[in-house]
Formats: sequence, structure tokens, C-alpha cells
Amino acid sequence: MRFHILTLFPEMVMNGLNTSIIGRAAAQGLLSLNAVNIRDYTLDKHGKVDDYPYGGGAGMLMQAQPVYDAYQAVVGKEKPRTIYVTPQGTPFTQKMAEEFAKEEELVFLCGHYEGIDERVLEEIVTDYVSIGDYVLTGGELPAMVMIDAISRLVPGVLNNEVSAETESFHNDLLEYPQYSRPEEWHGKKVPQVLLSGNHKNINQWRLEQSEERTAKRRPDLYVKYQEKKRIIKKLSRKKRENIHIMELLFRGNGEVLYHEGDNLLIFDRKSGAYFITAVDLEQGEKMCGLIPADAEMFVTSQEFLVELLCEQFRVRPGIQCVQACYTRKETLPVKYKDIRKLDESFLDYVAEHYHRGTREYLKERITDGAMYGAFDGERIIGFIGLHDEGSMGLLYVQEDYRLQGVAASLESFLINRQLEWGWTPYGQISVDNEPSKKLQEKLGLYLSAGNIWWLEQIRPLSGQG
Ligand code: ADE
Repeated sequence: MRFHILTLFPEMVMNGLNTSIIGRAAAQGLLSLNAVNIRDYTLDKHGKVDDYPYGGGAGMLMQAQPVYDAYQAVVGKEKPRTIYVTPQGTPFTQKMAEEFAKEEELVFLCGHYEGIDERVLEEIVTDYVSIGDYVLTGGELPAMVMIDAISRLVPGVLNNEVSAETESFHNDLLEYPQYSRPEEWHGKKVPQVLLSGNHKNINQWRLEQSEERTAKRRPDLYVKYQEKKRIIKKLSRKKRENIHIMELLFRGNGEVLYHEGDNLLIFDRKSGAYFITAVDLEQGEKMCGLIPADAEMFVTSQEFLVELLCEQFRVRPGIQCVQACYTRKETLPVKYKDIRKLDESFLDYVAEHYHRGTREYLKERITDGAMYGAFDGERIIGFIGLHDEGSMGLLYVQEDYRLQGVAASLESFLINRQLEWGWTPYGQISVDNEPSKKLQEKLGLYLSAGNIWWLEQIRPLSGQG
């Protein structure tokens, strides 16, 4: 990840970021930090970068020319996302940090005085972002806050890979309290359950603590969490049919856009898919009215909605699937032992052998830490992964290694990992893929009676299968 920070105070940004974890990541080459002094680009012979606003008003404005020239000096032909940090922006969230972390290059523009001439903002800014409803003296601290939050999501920056998966804001809940040695301090004992070694009880206790803490400290988040919980409970009446929506919500993804009775519309920002269920055509049409006209992907288990969506949006039914759901809690034996998480050096291999997703999509799955490979020595012989909305898939085994249990081992491995995270593993199998359905049943997954459809925009496929 390459960060460029356009600022009047480059040393403030560099001093703030070039230490601790972010500094170490930069020294290792996982990140680069390039603070550019806007003043170096002014054409004014006195080094001036600001002037009075037309129409009057308090204070000075940063002028367009030096900002634009500083920007031009750092960007190449490909225009990177350019974030103007401003109290008038969209509030910064963890979800936004995750989205920005996928970029290879980001530009941050830090304002000062009363702001920046609107014309240059119109030309270069792609995102207006605020860190909260208060006004600071300049954009450097907000830019540093965002760069810190984004950097720690870049693979390799945090040593402890699971911490990013289970921490605060995951699942819409705040993190539970934590304790370290000694067992007693100031007369306060560490809760007994944490010393018990019983992971089921520990997880249960942590969940209760998270819920209690969220209800108390962040009632706004707790309301959302409770609604998701209610929806999950209702959907669990037909678990095999609904597992994809239940897991989407359980894992803390998916925004509920509409929920009334059994009518449900959820948007998953990560995959860009709208999940829709309606009791009748009229309700279906009502929910379609809430979806932007350029929506690219839909998931539904109702045939009448397939027709409606094809009529209303530029989509066609891509794949009709059954769902396979692993509802047991026991881990599965993994016969083929050498399975490892893949890094980007395996992208060519994955892209060469998996044709139902774009290279860009496969790269994103790898950098998300969602792809695992089976190895024979140092040679990769197959892989599996989690799709961006959470289902298992992306399975491939090299021809000369087939029928030896490699696919079953890859899937069992992925199931076991998800059980560790407290998830219910599931996959979606094309209705006519009999060998895969057989494999699912052999591993102890249950198949749904009903089908689900993915509907995709009319253009090359973008990543399901
Ligand atoms: N610049 C000044 N105040 C700010 C804030 N709250 N967020 C982002 N940029 C800012």
C-alpha cells in the first residue's frame, strides 16, 4: 500500500506515523509513506498558498494551483482514490477502512485555514471523509487516524492475523473485557471461566460480555445487532435454505435495508450483492424501489423474484444453486496435511485454473486471507477459498492429484477454520454439479431442498461459483 499525503506540515505526518507498528511496516516495505509539502508547489514567489475567499467571510482559503500541482506530482496515469479529510465528509468507519485497504495507492489531502478552493476539489477528490462531528485545526491528524486504521488491515502489518478478524466492531459488537497475569490484582480476580480451559464456555461468556458492553456504551450499535439477531432467529426455521443470509448477518456483514414480516432486503457492501426475499410480487416491487438502478448483483431463493429482478435491472440469472450447510460442531479429519494460506505469489496459479471469477476478484480473495492451497512439497496442487459474501467455493485440484481425497481435505480444513471462528460453514453448489453434491454429503453437510439464484449484471462474470 502506498500512501501520499498532501499537506502543509509533512514533518507532523511523518513524525506521527513513522514510529511503532506503522513505522515498522514501512521499514519492511509493506507500506510506503510519502508526505508532500504543498507549499513546494506554489508559483507565488513568496511561498504563499492561501488567499481571501470571494464573496467575503472569515479566514483564508487554500488556493487551487499549489494543491493541484502537488497532486499531479504524485499521481501517474492511473488516478488513485483521493481522500479529502473534512468535517463535511462521510463519517469514517471500520467498513470504510476495509474498503480503502484493498487499494494499492491512496492520496490524502489535508486542508488548513477555512478550507480549499472548491474547483480543485472537484477535479481531484474521489472521497470526502470526516473522523467525527468536531472541527480540528487541520486535516493532518484525521489523515493519520485513517492511515493507521487502514494500514493495520494490510496483510503482514499485524503479526497476529486473527486479531483483525475478532476485534471490536466485528459482528456489530464491541470487544469483551480481557485479563492478563496476575490472577489477582488490587483484590480483583480474573473471571473463573477464563481459567477453565473450556472454550465453549469462554466463547459464550465473551459473547455475553460483548452484548452487555455494547448495550451500555453503544446503544445505537446494539439496536442494529438485536435486529440482526431477530432476523437470524426467524430465518433459522428454514436453516438450509437461509444459511447464506444468516451467516452474512452473524459475521457482522450486510446492512438491513428493509425488514417487515418475512420481507427482507439486505445489502452486502463487500460483494456488492442485494439479498432479497418477499412474501409476494407487490412487496418484491416495493423493495426493488429501494435498490439503486445500477445494482450489479442479487441473490434470491424465490423464482418469481428472479423474473422481476431481470425485468427491473440489467441482470440475468447466473447460477442456480443448492446450499450445503455444515451444522455440526465437531471438526473434520484432514487427511491431506500440507494446507497453507495463499499469498499473492500464487495469484497466477489460481487465475490460470479458476475461470469463474476475474483476476481482480481472485487477487482480492487472496489478499483478504480467504484462500488456502494444498501442497506437495513446495508445489501447489489445488486450492479452496471463501467467496466475498462468505460461502465456501473457489475449489480446484490439479488433474494428476484427483481422486486422492485432496478436495475433501481442503474443504474439511476450511470447515475446521470456520468452526474455530464460531461460524457455520456453508457452500453453494450449481444444481447440476453432482460430484460436488456427493462430496458435501460425504463430509456431513446437509443440502437444501430449495434453490437459490445469483443474478449478475449483463457483462463478464464477476466471481461466483
Ligand atoms: N479537518 C478538521 N476537522 C476534521 C474532522 N473532524 N474530520 C476530518 N477532517 C477534519
